[in-house]
Amino acid sequence: MPSESPIQKRKTDHLALCREADVEFQRRRTWFECVDLVHAALPAFSAEDAAIETDFLGRPLAAPFIIGAMTGGTDEAAAVNRALARVAARCGVGLALGSQRPMLQFPSLEAGYRLRDVAPGILILGNIGLSQALALKPAEVAALADRIGADGICLHLNAAMEMFQTGGDRPRAGAQAALGRLARELGDRLIVKETGCGISRETAALLARLGVRTVDVAGAGGTSWVRVENLRRGGAAPGLEAFEEWGIPTAASLAEIRGLRLRVIASGGLRSGLDLAKSIALGASIGSAALPVLRALARGGEEAAVEWIHGLVAGLRSAMVLAGARDLKSLRRVPLVITGPLRDWLEQRCLWRPPRA
Ligand SMILES: Cc1cc2nc3c(=O)[nH]c(=O)nc-3n(C[C@H](O)[C@H](O)[C@H](O)COP(=O)(O)O)c2cc1C
Repeated sequence: MPSESPIQKRKTDHLALCREADVEFQRRRTWFECVDLVHAALPAFSAEDAAIETDFLGRPLAAPFIIGAMTGGTDEAAAVNRALARVAARCGVGLALGSQRPMLQFPSLEAGYRLRDVAPGILILGNIGLSQALALKPAEVAALADRIGADGICLHLNAAMEMFQTGGDRPRAGAQAALGRLARELGDRLIVKETGCGISRETAALLARLGVRTVDVAGAGGTSWVRVENLRRGGAAPGLEAFEEWGIPTAASLAEIRGLRLRVIASGGLRSGLDLAKSIALGASIGSAALPVLRALARGGEEAAVEWIHGLVAGLRSAMVLAGARDLKSLRRVPLVITGPLRDWLEQRCLWRPPRA
């Protein structure tokens, strides 16, 4: 293995840029601000009594939250993942690892993805891109998770990033059939996720038809991967700057896929417990965030990352009290009001339903 291969250099750049540069969407918002939970002025229980425990792939979660997929494949990435695993264990939440592509290329890197010694009981998810998965047999994708003791694997879709990344992968014929085979092999252990551009109702329905049972919307409004790639190469190609703002806002993506027979993870710009509460009211089972956890870790180490997650959980509990939802099932049924551009979007997409009484 060369001292730092191109793929490892990319991982190092991504971590540095995401820690230090302004990598989020500049104008596009998540549209969580267009979703209101209706205030319940006579709460019947306190924040500590809100029941927020859940489980995922057989692992208990103290709160419906997973630290989002970020990194892997370098010594620095392994240290970040170990720190995140300890943070997840302290908070009782899950951890999604970054792409295992470097480990496919250099098997000696596998050790850096194994975290069970520091976090034996937490939910851990592996990660691989669709393009890489297409080159593997379904059993080999399953083995990627097994080899590191992960409970499942996220298959990431990143068409926009690949399009604007120098040397990025091109869309391939046969992807749908291959996805179907993967879904059959992995069942519940497969999560199909975007990386910041969201998932539409049409795409989600197609994924469901292919046998996929869980999707992570990773919508627009948080980290913009087209922007990260543009920052990496010192600017966008002329005429292509607008694609830094491309994607379905996270709240719109959640509303789009509501009611399909899919388990949903909400992510992409999820920044507070109130965002998480709104996500659940829009049909998600669990929320996830990447950038703020990385930044908290960079700012103040594991303590700061734990504190950020504790703040998120406190916000979720407060939102549940003030919306009158004692548990997550009730939160999924609270009345909500949708206004502004999100309402326009849903009307034009023929997905608008009047607020629930
Ligand atoms: C430093 C960094 C690296 C990332 N690497 C991956 C990756 O390897 N695989 C993946 O599926 N998503 C990756 N993501 C995307 C996140 O999992 C997430 O979908 C996206 O950043 C939106 O969430 P956020 O706005 O909370 O950051 C990465 C995000 C960050 C910040």
